[in-house]
Amino acid sequence: PAKAVAAMSDQAPKTLDALNAIIKRSEPLVPGATQAVLGEGRVGSTIAFVGEQPGDQEDRQGRPFVGPAGQLLSRAMAEAGIDREASYLTNAVKHFKFEERGKRRIHQKPTAGEVSHYRWWLDRELDFVAPKLVVALGATAVLALTGKSIPITRARGPFRFERLDDRFQGFITVHPSYLLRLPDEAKEEAYATFVGDLRRVAELGR
Ligand code: URA
Repeated sequence: PAKAVAAMSDQAPKTLDALNAIIKRSEPLVPGATQAVLGEGRVGSTIAFVGEQPGDQEDRQGRPFVGPAGQLLSRAMAEAGIDREASYLTNAVKHFKFEERGKRRIHQKPTAGEVSHYRWWLDRELDFVAPKLVVALGATAVLALTGKSIPITRARGPFRFERLDDRFQGFITVHPSYLLRLPDEAKEEAYATFVGDLRRVAELGR
């Protein structure tokens, strides 16, 4: 596992680039992904967003949050006054997992075991980026960051990530793909609430 390999002292990465090089070389835990999708953004970014795992488009392009959910996130960030370029975006799990249905690759939710396999990397990433605020997008990110299953509806809003020694402020909100799955009549209000969350994130990140 990643932890055992990288914990051998001379291999422990000293920079985010060195950590990313290890992640890039790693095999997916569940075979199938084209490539590892690394976090994107600079060390020292004020706000870090943590998603679930790369989707079909992210797997093809090798960048986080570039598919439909990512585009929705970008739009909501812009509306809330958050500069995507100045933020750090990453995922709890670094490889796409899917089921083939004809020509389509249907995303499959990572298991708790998979989340914990990738957790060491996420923790180190956040160590290096050292953001002021970490935003968990959806339940998988919450599981990765807290080690617990916590319903989003209960925890939505500012949150303390004790497992990470309160090294940064936390915030929990829904995953943008949840908004895409809602029935049309519920979308508008849910999107507005999401943008409202991101406005609070922008405030906390100032
Ligand atoms: N969903 C995620 O959680 N992450 C991505 O990068 C894309 C979609």
